[in-house]
Amino acid sequence: MTERIPIASDHAGFELKERLRTVLCDLGFDVDDIGTHGTASTDYADYAHPLAQQVSDGKVQRGVLLCGTGLGMSYTANRYPGVRAAVAWSPEVAELARKHNDANVLVLPARFLSDEDGIAILQRWLDTAFEGGRHEGRVAKIERDDQSSESADDASAGVSA
Ligand code: RB5
Repeated sequence: MTERIPIASDHAGFELKERLRTVLCDLGFDVDDIGTHGTASTDYADYAHPLAQQVSDGKVQRGVLLCGTGLGMSYTANRYPGVRAAVAWSPEVAELARKHNDANVLVLPARFLSDEDGIAILQRWLDTAFEGGRHEGRVAKIERDDQSSESADDASAGVSA
């Protein structure tokens, strides 16, 4: 079955999003373009929320976000359970984000990338699998099922807050 993959950006990521949408279509993905659809000023969170919700709900396996720095999109997406949104500024970072962190949302800092950089980063992220092994438990520890504020020091000392 064709994998559906959502992509979204604000105005700062719009042009690179258009390029990446074409690349994803050419690769055979069923691309869900959430917007934005032009260069008018927009708010990144309006696009990150619907994409992250789909990933968090398991409706899609992965998604792609773009804004100027990648930061606003990643802050927003990472508030959703099960979402691991990684800002990647090189293919090497994208590869490690998959291998070690099982990143299921790729976030691109569009104002700091050429189209060629963006395509290379996307390609590497798509092509790289999670390594599992020692990284499995570390990734599992990201999720919290409560809002307690137990610190790493408290945990290692066996003290519960
Ligand atoms: C838009 O000017 C810019 O602030 C936004 O794209 C992003 O970089 C925020 O994190």
